[in-house]
Amino acid sequence: MIEFTIAVALATLAAGLIAAVLVPRLKHMRVQLVALALVCVILPLAAVAASGAVMFSSGHDLTVLALSAAASLAAIAGGLTLARSIGRPLQELRATAAAVADGDLGARAPETGPAEIAELAASFNRMAANLEEVFDARRQLVAWASHDLRTPLASMQAMLEALEDGLAEPERYLPALREQVGTLSSLVDDLFELARIDAGALSIELREARLAPVVESCVRGLEAEAEARHVNLDARISAPGPLVRCAPESLERVLYNLHSNALRHTPSDGSVAVRVEPRASEVEVAVEDTGVGLPPDALESVFDRFWRADQSRSKSTGGGSGLGLAIARGLVEAQGGRIWAENRPGGGARIAFTLPAA
Ligand SMILES: Nc1ncnc2c1ncn2[C@@H]1O[C@H](COP(=O)(O)OP(=O)(O)OP(=O)(O)O)[C@@H](O)[C@H]1O
Ligand SMILES: [Mg+2]
Repeated sequence: MIEFTIAVALATLAAGLIAAVLVPRLKHMRVQLVALALVCVILPLAAVAASGAVMFSSGHDLTVLALSAAASLAAIAGGLTLARSIGRPLQELRATAAAVADGDLGARAPETGPAEIAELAASFNRMAANLEEVFDARRQLVAWASHDLRTPLASMQAMLEALEDGLAEPERYLPALREQVGTLSSLVDDLFELARIDAGALSIELREARLAPVVESCVRGLEAEAEARHVNLDARISAPGPLVRCAPESLERVLYNLHSNALRHTPSDGSVAVRVEPRASEVEVAVEDTGVGLPPDALESVFDRFWRADQSRSKSTGGGSGLGLAIARGLVEAQGGRIWAENRPGGGARIAFTLPAA
């Protein structure tokens, strides 16, 4: 009889241990918990049922005690294994969160364990990656901004020192000093505008306006520059043009940005044209040129802050700071539109944006 009791107890214990190994392999935590509960109920029941007949014939109470002890041991083993399988990934996730909180933005949690915890770890890793990207972008932004602020400051300092030492007449450096002050103040204005766009503090008042007067005013303002560059400036819009919902001052700023870029990158005898095409619920405005066009892999990056095709970031090529299109995107989106860049099939760039039709 005692052999039978030991055999049933060992079989129960073995079944319990096998269950303890298999349960944590189930994918979902809730399925694991249900499986554990079932094992704890079914195992002793099955063992009691199996030994019932023998018990009736022998009346040996030790069997029941041994079975209960084995089943309890199996349940405890299963519970401990399961707790470990859930606890370990949680512990790793907690350690990673602490590392990120302490400034190690490159820390990532292993995406293991039950599906719920693996998904939590994956979301956490995505959040940490985004955070790292934002911090990198901010670091780069500060580096570029200080570079662009330092360059005109250094040249102004050199000119002032030359004046102080009597090495040059003030008239010689005054125009250059004025130009550098202009560069600095427009850079500071641009940075301020971008900060306001970022903070959502742009107070844009949308109203219904005709496109033609805004486009014409912008084109008029650039006629002299186009003439000096021997570039033909063409505004193909039949007055009064479609009615759109926009903030005319912001719209003019966007148009001015796109036109001055186009003029800057179009060789003499080329042409720059603005086209306006009404669509179903919006109006598409595009500034096209016959210039060098954009690098095909940079059609998205042109809207990044401080991005310039001329990576040397020298002002010798007559370029700006690389903020114009970033501001243009912020302003267009604040007016409910989209902006994108493409190259024209015949050569040259085409920067287009939409505005909601009124
Ligand atoms: N029409 C265009 N043709 C060719 N390249 C262009 C054109 N427009 C923009 N780019 C490229 O995109 C870059 C970013 O333009 P963006 O207007 O943002 O800055 P920027 O003109 O260099 O400086 P900023 O506008 O701040 O004075 C430019 O430096 C230039 O390399
Ligand atoms: Mg520009």
